[in-house]
Amino acid sequence: MIIAIDGPAATGKSTTAIAVAEELGFTYLDTGAMYRAVTFSVIDRGISLDDKDSLKIFLNMLDINMYFDDKVFKVEINDRDVTGKIRDPEITSRVSEVSAVQEIRKAMVNLQRQMVVGKNCVVEGRDIGTVVFPEADLKFFMVADVRVRAERRQKDLLVIGKNKNIGELEVDIKKRDNKDSSRTHSPLLKSDDAIIIDTSNLEFEEQVNLIIELTKNYKKEMT
Ligand code: DC
Repeated sequence: MIIAIDGPAATGKSTTAIAVAEELGFTYLDTGAMYRAVTFSVIDRGISLDDKDSLKIFLNMLDINMYFDDKVFKVEINDRDVTGKIRDPEITSRVSEVSAVQEIRKAMVNLQRQMVVGKNCVVEGRDIGTVVFPEADLKFFMVADVRVRAERRQKDLLVIGKNKNIGELEVDIKKRDNKDSSRTHSPLLKSDDAIIIDTSNLEFEEQVNLIIELTKNYKKEMT
């Protein structure tokens, strides 16, 4: 069974998807972390996004591994642990540009499809319900006011010892939404059959419970 959770940046997708997966005993797949890991590697290796030959070689040998280690979500790319790097502001500011490249998207979508084979999975991203798993059992599209999202992002950054003012964060989030929504290849889009969850005024437990309840109802209907 696949549960797709899509939506713009900082709407609470990751924390919600992790809690839902844990509660249901499902595997969690964070596709944003995959694009972030690729962004880190592309920058680290100095690969130009226009250099299609180098990009092809890089994508052919790409290996991404994600797992929980003592409740910490770890991300490895080609055997390198990049967990502590992928949420840096530099990566966040470049990830939309990198994830808009068609060759990169194609490789990621293939990998994502392979990663869920034979598993019950909560998959989180931007194009999960539309492109990666259009046949997902349940699709959710999480949204929230930009102010609320900036406040949440600020809290997340403080946890890793970084600070940014709310105004700047709002601008960053809007920019990223625009880039993610306007790209040619699989843009951020709500699938027609996705259920919208507006988390602006929801407590974390409420949004998690809502998805769990809807999933339980869906399972009942299917039996
Ligand atoms: O969810 P996140 O903020 O970690 O995602 C980082 C970026 O990755 C996001 O700005 C757009 C890109 N992304 C994507 O293009 N497709 C996905 N399925 C997931 C993320």
